[in-house]
Amino acid sequence: MACPPEAYRQRRARLAAGLRRPMVLLSGNAPARDYAANPYPFLASSTYLYFGGPPIENAALVIEPGSDGDEGCELFRQAREPDDLVWLGNVPSDERLAGAAGLGAHRVATTDRLASRPAAGAACCICPPFPEALRWALEAGLQQADNDELLLVVDMRLCKDDHELEAMRRAADVGVEAQLAAMRATQPGRREADVAAALTEVLVAHECTPSFTPIITTAGEVLHATGYSSVLKPGQLVLVDAGAETPTGYTSDMTRTWPVSGEWSDVQRHLYDTVWRAQAEAIAACVPGRRFRDIHDLAAKVICEGLIEAELLRGDPAELTQRYAHTLFFCHGLGHLIGLDVHDMEDFGDLAGYAPGRTRRPEFGNKFLRLDRDLEPGMCVTIEPGVYLNPAIWARDDLVGPLADVVNRPKVDALLKERFGGIRIEETVCILQHGGPEILTETLPNDPDAVAVLAGAA
Ligand code: GLY
Ligand code: MN
Ligand code: MN
Repeated sequence: MACPPEAYRQRRARLAAGLRRPMVLLSGNAPARDYAANPYPFLASSTYLYFGGPPIENAALVIEPGSDGDEGCELFRQAREPDDLVWLGNVPSDERLAGAAGLGAHRVATTDRLASRPAAGAACCICPPFPEALRWALEAGLQQADNDELLLVVDMRLCKDDHELEAMRRAADVGVEAQLAAMRATQPGRREADVAAALTEVLVAHECTPSFTPIITTAGEVLHATGYSSVLKPGQLVLVDAGAETPTGYTSDMTRTWPVSGEWSDVQRHLYDTVWRAQAEAIAACVPGRRFRDIHDLAAKVICEGLIEAELLRGDPAELTQRYAHTLFFCHGLGHLIGLDVHDMEDFGDLAGYAPGRTRRPEFGNKFLRLDRDLEPGMCVTIEPGVYLNPAIWARDDLVGPLADVVNRPKVDALLKERFGGIRIEETVCILQHGGPEILTETLPNDPDAVAVLAGAA
């Protein structure tokens, strides 16, 4: 599963060929929850993981312009004090770290030597947003990498190599198993927390972590709903958006929505079928050269068609899509890049998600689209359309007023009153050179009959 050391060396050499000044990649550290000895779990910066191998805290990897990936590279790590052995056990030796990262054994030094390294002050850095790492970068005189330098990294990380794809498949497989456990744990009278426990057990058993805080909710209209305290009631939908992160940092992201009782109401089933069709058409369009924003708009049109059939909107689907009428129901973007981050490289703002010269559309709904590139083989993205009945949106006259002529408000209000919630279906896919994409999460059923049976079988 681990990436071969030689692959790390080759990545550094490729980056070094484009560098004008040294680049320092900081791994970061686990911030304290309440006091220093009680930290959050450590999450290494994804760019460090891509070029530097195993995650270790407070490490810095220097890459000189023109380096062959070994000579001209140096890994700085915290000195291992005897006390560390008491609290942390046998932390990896310099030799082991260097070996795993494809570096000569003598290229590992302690962090106190970084500031005195020749040209350290002229180096740029990529630093995760933790106070300790930022302070260290400042003390060492490092400047933040500029956009040209970040784009060198983006160009490499955008398309996954075979080692990365293997890890992505693993993250997807573990996530699928966790989602299946969540479906099977669903039963009227149980709580969201019971579903969360079943899902988390699978992740832990595979030595994975959640790739983000799992969303497990009967309030699916709240896109990032937190907490698991609601009791599952017959007639409700439960939405589970979760994924796994492997020990090497690769992630998956998938969403399923199913009826608590294992039976769909007519309107639930119709809107599920609408989202499902939008997703199928969007996935079929995920081929090299297609602009992701156009695929988003394609999914939006299918959703408008379904909303017209459900008598929630009226008019022509193409015109409704152009007026962004769908954003009252499908209020977020179709998907995002995924890899070592669940929203890959979003720490670089829109540099990764948006092709040079492209910017976000400003309108409500559209502005949440995180990806507008032409797809390329090896890119991994999510496809996650949804339909939501969110009271917070329908209370806003500035959002609803301009579309009042095409909305069937009494029918919307009836669904809001019965707390319809939301439906999302999300897959993680990898763009292939030929044919449609590889759907990494394909083994998780999304057929409405199959998910209902799984949920109802508990
Ligand atoms: N819930 C995060 C995502 O699906 O992007
Ligand atoms: Mn998700
Ligand atoms: Mn997602």
